[in-house]
Amino acid sequence: MADTVTITDNSTGKSVEFPIKHGSHGPPVIDIRTLYKEFGMFTYDPGFLSTASCESDITFIDGEKGILLYRGYPIDQLAENSSFIETCYLLWYGDLPTANELEEFSGIITRHTMVHEGLRNFYSGFRRDAHPMATMVGVVGALSAFYHDSLDIHDERSREISAHRIIAKLPTIAAWSYRFSRGEPFPYPRNDLGYAENFLQLMFSYPTEEYEPNPVVAKAMDLLFILHADHEQNASTSTVRLAGSSQANPFACISAGVGTLWGPAHGGANEAVIKMLTEIGDVKNIDKYIAKAKDHDDPFRLMGFGHRVYKNYDPRAKIIRKACKEVLDVLKVNDPMFEIALRLEEIALKDEYFVAKKLYPNVDFYSGIIQHAIGIPTNMFTVIFTIGRAIGWISQWKEMITEDQQRIGRPRQLYVGAKTRDYIPMGER
Ligand code: SDX
Repeated sequence: MADTVTITDNSTGKSVEFPIKHGSHGPPVIDIRTLYKEFGMFTYDPGFLSTASCESDITFIDGEKGILLYRGYPIDQLAENSSFIETCYLLWYGDLPTANELEEFSGIITRHTMVHEGLRNFYSGFRRDAHPMATMVGVVGALSAFYHDSLDIHDERSREISAHRIIAKLPTIAAWSYRFSRGEPFPYPRNDLGYAENFLQLMFSYPTEEYEPNPVVAKAMDLLFILHADHEQNASTSTVRLAGSSQANPFACISAGVGTLWGPAHGGANEAVIKMLTEIGDVKNIDKYIAKAKDHDDPFRLMGFGHRVYKNYDPRAKIIRKACKEVLDVLKVNDPMFEIALRLEEIALKDEYFVAKKLYPNVDFYSGIIQHAIGIPTNMFTVIFTIGRAIGWISQWKEMITEDQQRIGRPRQLYVGAKTRDYIPMGER
């Protein structure tokens, strides 16, 4: 039987067969690229609930089973065995590195962690109370004003250098956003430290004393970067792809992704979760907030719950919840928010509303708690997400820009505005 779908316009009786394309995992797609030519009609799918925007071999999510693969490797195996730098190599180059390849790649990233001295001056133009994500959008977008030698999107080596610079420089830019907000000096990166350790020293070291990162905190940081690295065609990744489809330079595209990730419906949810748990304040208040989340007339949502793709437990949330408990135990931190979060999850997952709508904790539900436990300030949570996701954005950007049929993304619309009408002279209005 032909692998096709037939669409019939019942008003004209015209029928056309459209091919079905199958991937290696997940639902097949109906290739409807000729639909407008055949029927003079568009598909209509606000929010893209039923739309595949591209082919990709980078990441796969099975929302029903709660599975996440990076280049085919399950996220729980990478979380257990890999490092963020190795995960960056995997996402960019497509396979796990040999020991020599990993050592060479790690060395390259380490030597790209400094930023142009002119970029330091950018910070002084911001207000001290600017949200660090606002600074990130500005400074990441400015990178293309400093690195002219890697802006040729059609040159493979330029693309690779841009990726190296983005992976390496985001922790420096991010940490300086935090230091600027506190009126503190900007440490330089240290080449003797690993990726997560270096980020911690950029965040918390002082020129007045030695700083040695806590290994437990560094491991938790590295795990968070791994878990946030990529996630198919989420809102910020789709933004990076669309920006890239106009052939804008990679730094401009990444800064567009930073802006998109900031929203509380997306990467900003981890900061919103902490605000929500702080507002709940005590386990005895949970029922009141569950009721608010279920009340359609109340705009309150259980932040960190629900997902467009996961209709089962987000595997990243499971991993972070386990790591959270380990970190709190090792650091001997008694964080009441963790107890509230565990109880909130327990109650919600038994509640018919959440069960029927398949609303489970997502990556953001526990990530704020573990960051809070290791001393990351709340307004830096989404910045941490940005550092992790940058490798996913730039890998997806490369995949898009190197497609054989790469073309600008330009969706159409259903126009419901005023019909054609003549201009009304002022005297007749
Ligand atoms: C991330 O796309 C990705 O992969 C994103 C991400 C990544 O790694 O890139 O995984 C990172 O963004 C995780 C999501 C973080 N956001 C939040 O935790 C914010 C709270 N969650 C929701 O706003 C919502 O669940 C979304 C935005 C995550 C998903 O929205 P959808 O898929 O558009 O679902 P929806 O808003 O249409 O909700 C479906 C139903 C609605 O009820 P009905 O109108 O059908 O009666 O579920 C309800 C919603 O009201 N609902 C919730 C809810 N989330 C959805 N009700 C209460 N609390 C919630 N959190």
